[in-house]
Amino acid sequence: MEVIVRPTTAEAVKLTAQLIADLVKAKPNCNLGLATGATMEAVYADLVKMYQAGEVDFSKVTSFNLDEYIGLAPDDPNSYRYYMNYHLFNHINIDKSKTNLPDGLAKDYDAEGERYEKAIKAAGGVDLQLLGIGRDGHIGFNEPLSSFASRTRDKALTPETWKQNSIYFNPPESMPMSAFTMGVGTILDAKQALLLITGKSKAAIAAKAIEGPVSSMVTASALQLHQHAVVILDEEAAANLTMREYYDWVFAHDRKWANYR
Ligand code: F6R
Repeated sequence: MEVIVRPTTAEAVKLTAQLIADLVKAKPNCNLGLATGATMEAVYADLVKMYQAGEVDFSKVTSFNLDEYIGLAPDDPNSYRYYMNYHLFNHINIDKSKTNLPDGLAKDYDAEGERYEKAIKAAGGVDLQLLGIGRDGHIGFNEPLSSFASRTRDKALTPETWKQNSIYFNPPESMPMSAFTMGVGTILDAKQALLLITGKSKAAIAAKAIEGPVSSMVTASALQLHQHAVVILDEEAAANLTMREYYDWVFAHDRKWANYR
């Protein structure tokens, strides 16, 4: 796992967007794994700006989102399909027929999980999986105790996640209590994982995920087992990290980061 701390949220976001754009430039027909949530809004805004400036072409990209609420239709403003259209897909030249999310209206949950896994496999696997982290340490909606071998499936949300996200629903009680999510195993299969963590409310869980023991209690800690995982944090989210000097040293000196400093 490589850890990069940037002085501001905007710089952490910019680096994240640059890494995604650089993959698309290097491999125009890549498979991007995408995430939703408040943290990602700025990343998508940066990618839209890059697209508008003619710097990146998404026409051959295929995407797979991490998760979708069970029971929400694609045109529901709280669905993750709506979020993706609103923040990214409507503003870039991606072919919407190549953008994939679990179907929130699927009635057979096991079949939907299998369908999604097969679609990822048929596309050749995810090249880069973008991730955020929940305050309980989840990646995707892999809540504490999710197996590291788990695949796309339905998952009951924790009361903490429910409380955190229900503020977006009107009324808050209408928020679904479960979601389809890629499993930890699905995420670990991506060729690269890119986790963005910003803000002081994430400082405690960031330290647990990055420097704590690998544990299904904090599913983001599974990324310590990934061959190619990069975690980007802003100063506030990095506040509790103990190996900070080393992370800064690597970013300043390792030649692979030369174009990003
Ligand atoms: C969203 C997702 C979640 C979020 C996480 C952080 O697709 O999979 O894991 O990344 O809950 O959300 P924010 O950024 O809203 O704090």
